[in-house]
Amino acid sequence: MKRTATILACLFVILFVTSLPTKTGKTQVHDYIYDYERMSRAAVAMLHAVENFLAENIDIINTHNAMLGRPAPTNQPYNYKGINPEGGTARIGKEFTKRTGMTVKFASEGKKKYGLRNKENAPDDWERNQLKKFASIRYPSGVGFGEIEKLTGTYDIVHRYIYPLYADPACLKCHGDPNLSPTKDGKDITGHMMEGYKPGELIGAISVVSPLAVEPVSGTEAIIYDYNKMAKIIVNLLQIPGYFIAGHMDVIDTFGATLDKPIPPNQPYSYKGINPVAFAKLITAELTASTGIKARFVSEGKGSYGPRNPDNLPDPWEIVQLRRYAEKAPSTEGIGEVIRMSAVGLTVYRYFFPLYVNELCLKCHGDPATSPTKDGKDVTGGPMENYKIGDLRGGISLIFPVR
Ligand code: HEC
Ligand code: HEC
Repeated sequence: MKRTATILACLFVILFVTSLPTKTGKTQVHDYIYDYERMSRAAVAMLHAVENFLAENIDIINTHNAMLGRPAPTNQPYNYKGINPEGGTARIGKEFTKRTGMTVKFASEGKKKYGLRNKENAPDDWERNQLKKFASIRYPSGVGFGEIEKLTGTYDIVHRYIYPLYADPACLKCHGDPNLSPTKDGKDITGHMMEGYKPGELIGAISVVSPLAVEPVSGTEAIIYDYNKMAKIIVNLLQIPGYFIAGHMDVIDTFGATLDKPIPPNQPYSYKGINPVAFAKLITAELTASTGIKARFVSEGKGSYGPRNPDNLPDPWEIVQLRRYAEKAPSTEGIGEVIRMSAVGLTVYRYFFPLYVNELCLKCHGDPATSPTKDGKDVTGGPMENYKIGDLRGGISLIFPVR
C-alpha cells in the first residue's frame, strides 16, 4: 500500500516536472504576450492621439474661416458639426475592428447622477475592476495595464489592455463645470450635460481586446510571422484615421455642414488645414514615441511631379518595393522582411504596404482641371498630379527594431 503510494507520488512528480514549460518555451510565451501588449499600446497611443487632436481642435472644426495651428477667430460664425473626440475615435475604432479583429472601445462608469453619455461605453467586469484601480490615488498616472484573460463560458483566450484617460483642459470644455456651459443651460456644444469633472480626474479609459491567434511556429519564421501580424495592424491604424478625415473634409470645411448629412449647398467654404496627411503624420509620431516603430509615407511621385514633400522620397529598399508593386495588379498585401545591416551590426524588420488612389484622394491628387482654385492646385495649395483611381500613389514603410 505504502509502496503504491510512493510510486504514485513519484509518477506525479515526474509528470509535473515534464509538464513545466522549458526555458525557451517560457521566453516564447513571454515574447508572444509582449507582442500583443506592444500592438495594444500602439493602438491606444494612436487613437488617443486622434481623440486629443479632435478635442484640441474642436473650435477649429466648428468655426468658419478657422485655420489649424492658429487661434480660432472669435468674430466668425460657429456651428457644431457632430464630430466629437470620442464619437470620431469610436468610428475609427469600429473600422479598425472590422479590418483586424482587435476591438477598441471607450470604457467609463460615468460620473454620479450624470451616468454615461453613450451606453456603448459601459464597462464589463474586467474593465470596471481596472477603472477602480486607475481611480485610486496610489495608481501611477498614465500607466496602462494588460493581461491574458480566459473568457467565461467559452474556451477563448484574449489579450486585454486598458489605458486611463484623465480630464485635461481640452476635455473640460465639454466634460467640465456646467456653470461654464456655452449655451448657459449646463450643456456642452454637443448637447450633453457637462459632468463637472475636475482637471486631472479620471474620465474613463480606452480598452483593447485582441483574440489570441493560433500558436506561432518556432524559430525565425515565428519572428516574421509575429512582425507581419503587427505590421498589418499598424498600417491599418495609420490609414483609417486618414480616411476618416479624407471622407469628412467637406463637413469640416463647409459652414453649416453636419456629420452624416448631405453637405448643404451655397454655404461658404474655407479650408482649415486639417488634411489626411497632416493627420497621418501626427499619428505616425505617436506610434514611434510609444513603440519605437518608425513609420513613414513614401512615393517617387508621378512623371514630372516628384513627391509632394521631398522628405517622402523613398530609400533604395523602398524604391525596390514601390517599383515591384507598380508592376503588378493592385494588392491588399504588404511585404515584410528581416534585414541585417552588418555595417552597423543592427537587425531590423522592414515592411512595405502599397497605397492606391481612390475617389477620396482625387480631390487633391487627381485631375488638375478639377482644381478648386482653378490653377491646378488642391485645397492645400499643392499641385494636383493627375492620378487616376487604382494608381499606386506610394506606400507606408515601417521599420521595427528586432529584439
Ligand atoms: C466637443 C465635446 C467633447 C470634448 C472636447 C471631449 N468630449 Fe468626451 N465625450 C463627448 C461626447 C459627445 C461623448 C459621447 C460620445 C459617444 O456618443 O460615444 C463623450 C464621451 C466620452 C467618454 C466615454 C464616457 C461616456 O460618458 O460615454 C470618455 C471616457 C470621454 N468622453 C473622455 C474625454 C476626454 C479624455 C476628453 C479630452 C481629451 C474628452 N472626452 C473631450 C464630448 C466631448
Ligand atoms: C486634402 C488633400 C489631400 C487628400 C484628400 C489626399 N492627400 Fe495625399 N498628400 C497631400 C499633401 C498636402 C501631401 C504632402 C504631405 C507632406 O507634406 O508630407 C500628400 C502626400 C501624400 C503621400 C506621400 C508622398 C508624397 O507625394 O509626398 C502619399 C503616399 C499620399 N499623399 C497618398 C494619398 C492617398 C492614398 C490619398 C487618398 C486616400 C490621399 N493622399 C489623399 C494632400 C492630400
